Amino acid sequence: MTSPRYSLPAIALHWGQAILVFWLLWLGWTMTDLPKGAERSAAYGLHKSLGLLMLFIVAIRLVWRQRKAPPPMLVGGWEAKLAHLVHIALYGFLILAPLAGYLASSFTPYALKFFGIEIPKAGWPDESFNAFFKQCHLWAVWGGAGLIFLHVAGAIKHLLKRDGSIQRMLPGKLFKK
Ligand code: HEM
Ligand code: HEM
Repeated sequence: MTSPRYSLPAIALHWGQAILVFWLLWLGWTMTDLPKGAERSAAYGLHKSLGLLMLFIVAIRLVWRQRKAPPPMLVGGWEAKLAHLVHIALYGFLILAPLAGYLASSFTPYALKFFGIEIPKAGWPDESFNAFFKQCHLWAVWGGAGLIFLHVAGAIKHLLKRDGSIQRMLPGKLFKK
């Protein structure tokens, strides 16, 4: 039987990831302006660790989505098609942005750490590859920011219409429709 709401794990993963994305965007945009030193290194280290965590979470989320299908869309027509496209593109962003970040960090002389634990890199010190993947990271991030804007604007529209869309992504026991 399909539930009118997303399942609790899907809801927890959605909101966990939403918080993580805003944190990563803020960290990314502030850390690059910091002067070279301990604070900048710590911010980069945290950004990379949280970004890699994002990759794990999206993998778990997609596996869960395969096992427990989301509830059918409330609206139909072009709105449903657009929302569906934006959701697919958001998943694409959640995979490509951290992947490009990982590849950019792989082509540097520095060790790559996940919350203090050194992890294997996919490359070797090479400035041109590093610059290329940094550029890919930047495009993915700006594309993702645009998608998030569209997604949140859509969510606000439904919130104002009070059509129950938002409740689908909130735990049922707390928020009765
Ligand atoms: C204030 C911020 C946000 C709000 C209010 C919000 C709200 C929602 C709602 C209500 C849905 C369910 C749509 C439906 O009924 O079909 C949804 C789905 C989704 N949201 Fe968000 N969202 C927010 C932020 C984000 C962010 C930052 C991301 C990712 C970067 C994201 C990714 C997704 C994805 C991928 C789905 C589709 C889930 C699926 O069907 O697999 N959301 N969101
Ligand atoms: C969804 C996940 C991620 C988001 C949303 C994100 C976001 C950002 C943003 C907004 C910037 C600043 C871009 C600029 O204006 O220069 C940035 C830079 C950066 N990110 Fe990420 N990031 C993510 C994942 C990662 C991962 C996994 C890594 C590496 C393991 C990484 C490594 C970097 C590096 C090294 C920079 C600095 C690039 C430079 O110095 O120009 N990011 N990121």
